Amino acid sequence: MTAFRTLDQAEVKGKRVLVRVDLNVPMENGRVTDATRIERVLPTIREIAEKGGKVILLAHFGRPKGRDPKESLKPVAEAVSTHLKKPVAFADDCIGEAAAKAVAALKDGDVLLLENTRFHAGEEKNDPAFVQDLAKLGDLYVNDAFSAAHRAHASTEGLARVLPAYAGRTMQAELDALTKGLEAPKRPVVAIVGGAKVSTKIDLLENLVTKVDALVIGGGMANTFVHATGLGVGKSLAEKDLAATALRIIDKARTSNCAIILPVDGVCAYEFKAGAPNHTYGIDAIPEDQMILDVGSQSVERVSAAINDAATLVWNGPFDQGTVAAARHAAQRTKEGKLVSVAGGGDTVAALNHAGVADDFTYVSTAGGAFLEWLEGKSLPGVEALRA
Ligand code: 3PG
Ligand code: MG
Repeated sequence: MTAFRTLDQAEVKGKRVLVRVDLNVPMENGRVTDATRIERVLPTIREIAEKGGKVILLAHFGRPKGRDPKESLKPVAEAVSTHLKKPVAFADDCIGEAAAKAVAALKDGDVLLLENTRFHAGEEKNDPAFVQDLAKLGDLYVNDAFSAAHRAHASTEGLARVLPAYAGRTMQAELDALTKGLEAPKRPVVAIVGGAKVSTKIDLLENLVTKVDALVIGGGMANTFVHATGLGVGKSLAEKDLAATALRIIDKARTSNCAIILPVDGVCAYEFKAGAPNHTYGIDAIPEDQMILDVGSQSVERVSAAINDAATLVWNGPFDQGTVAAARHAAQRTKEGKLVSVAGGGDTVAALNHAGVADDFTYVSTAGGAFLEWLEGKSLPGVEALRA
């Protein structure tokens, strides 16, 4: 693994430390509804503060076009303070006089959050002048926001080029987990990919088949593959125009020695409605006038068997009822020390939480797009900029 400088190498005592965190948390009526991302960055904040550094948090929130009070980080500062059990100061701007004053007021071990970096166009443009405006506020830069590392923005990439840069503890854990999951995994590796559409996951599937030993395709996108292999999927949603793409992926898997595991049965009904009468059919006997609502029990057993054969599991994508069972099985194997399980991307965390297994996986990433781009084999600008 390429070395990243971490907090182990950083001399933070008495220093102003600019720490990029991802506080892009779900909010309703001014309250944070899921604090997972806040929880994740606490270790880095605590460590720098305890070592006598001045912690200056940089973060974005939403996708504002210019300054917009609805996208202020102020309520998030309060939430961070609650979780940190320590005051967190807030400055109304991330550059200029307001920011400089707030930074100057910091004592060693204090924590400050600066207003949404995306209130300035220079953030997303990675404008060198804006990078300099931010850099003036700190002596060191720590990036603890893997989930924003697919963005080459001023606070995620530019700063790492102009200040001594280090990976925070969460960034470090994330890179470590992804290395164990895909870069240098213990084999065999099985990947489970779910989601509604193949069209959003073509690059990801094409990369995964070259890296893993078995690929389980689940969720609505499995229908597209089933249809491509020449079987009927009745009235189920399927991207029939992607049949050629699906066949190309199956072909690539074959030449890469990756087994593709598709559903072998499906729970079907005449309509997509809760409580509609349903019946399980073999995948080669889906009635023309019905739709597949979920995988059947034999499919679940096949997935569980694939998990039993695996030493490493990479999971992406939300899933249906049937695969909740597979998630529980993966959690159990992980608890027994037989499996390294890494999950992330989009709605995956919510799905694993719903299945009640998130805590039992080896690592669950809170990253959406960044996790997907990693699975696609792309390099992430925020990670590249940290390489020592
Ligand atoms: C996220 O929520 O996925 C990250 O914070 C990145 O946000 P973005 O997609 O708006 O860049
Ligand atoms: Mg996103």
